[in-house]
Amino acid sequence: MITAVRGTYDILPSDTPLWQFVEARARAVFQRHGFCELRTPIFEQTELFVRSIGDATDIVEKEMYTFPDRKGRSLTLRPEGTASVVRACLEHNLLAQQKAVRLYYCGPMFRYERPQAGRQRQFNQIGVELFGSYSPLADAEVIALLVRLYEELGLTNLTVKLNTLGDADSRLRYQDALRACLAPLQATLCTDCQRRCATNILRVLDCKVPACRDILAAAALPGMQATLSDAARAHYQQVLATLTQLGIAYHEEPKLVRGLDYYSHTIFEVTHTALGAQDALGGGGRYDGLVTEMGGPPTGAVGWALGVERLLMALRAGATALPVPPAPVFLIAFDERAVQENFIIADALRRAGIAAITAYEKQSPKAQMRQANHAGAQIVLMRGEDERAADIYKMKDMRTGVESVCPAADVVHHVTAALRGA
Ligand code: HAM
Repeated sequence: MITAVRGTYDILPSDTPLWQFVEARARAVFQRHGFCELRTPIFEQTELFVRSIGDATDIVEKEMYTFPDRKGRSLTLRPEGTASVVRACLEHNLLAQQKAVRLYYCGPMFRYERPQAGRQRQFNQIGVELFGSYSPLADAEVIALLVRLYEELGLTNLTVKLNTLGDADSRLRYQDALRACLAPLQATLCTDCQRRCATNILRVLDCKVPACRDILAAAALPGMQATLSDAARAHYQQVLATLTQLGIAYHEEPKLVRGLDYYSHTIFEVTHTALGAQDALGGGGRYDGLVTEMGGPPTGAVGWALGVERLLMALRAGATALPVPPAPVFLIAFDERAVQENFIIADALRRAGIAAITAYEKQSPKAQMRQANHAGAQIVLMRGEDERAADIYKMKDMRTGVESVCPAADVVHHVTAALRGA
């Protein structure tokens, strides 16, 4: 038997109502906040991700699904959405058309990571990107949007973690301070981190190797705040003040860095208590340099992405009332003729907006009742010789067990009334 590839999985019919619920709520919240959907291809030129995410990041060094196409061009399955959104905005000149451009996207991303609970090789993100503003209000707007979305989904036990990387000068000063602090420890770090000390020292803070994490936790690392320029500090303070005014609780996390190189200023992550080791529900930040890096005009930008699989894990662990699959009407045939008659009535029910299922051949009433139960039917309609003689349908309300009859010509009306609880 051929099975799904390691790190990928099927979303089964029993789970799709929850996915649809999350996607529908997200779309409604985005619409309310003025964000429009952008759909980009699932694969891009490899160069796009190398240039935007950074060639010394784990994602680019170890996790990309990269392959040559038949003409030998290097392509990569997108590991995240931001790079593609920036490419599409520049390619279609979207940023020149209005001052602030608010976009969202939903879809699968691909990272070659070691699969475990909450970490897949194909996973789904919902993300937003806001272009055209350097204002701290834009940072607060997208952070609030993320929190409001989680609230709308009924999710509690969240922590919003915030930090700032400052502007380019602040970051250079911080990198120097970090280098000085890590120099005596360098030999004890993993070989990747020893290399990172020279190539991209901020990435050391993001290392997933437990021994490195322990060393870093014990080290008296400098906080990023100490090296911030006045302007960068003022930007960050206004983000914090605005979140407070919005009633959004946050924790400042001076050691927070993100796994992608394009960030500057505000960065954030939302974690959830039910998620265990992979506790990041979502994350993002400001990336003012990326649009220019990709060949566009200087453009302030800030955004985030959340992992849908992790969101569903958190929702399942919580007390939220989750959606159940729609319960159809089930039509039972006591004889062969009724199979055909039921088929026609089912069509009438569906045209009236009611989900309905029939059997394709006569089976024992018991077997058909089992199918009705399995489908979670609320109403069962029954037809056989006796019902045909009286031109009626027998109806059983599965929620109450109450049985009744109704004229065949009036089935849609009766079922509608029964479903409404009339
Ligand atoms: P990221 O932190 O790499 O950011 O991913 C965002 C979220 O995707 C994570 O918080 C997590 O919930 C989910 N995620 C990441 N990797 C996996 C995986 N292997 N399995 C399951 N879930 C995963 C970004 O991707 C940025 N593009 C976010 C952003 C948008 N920044 C600015 N704009």
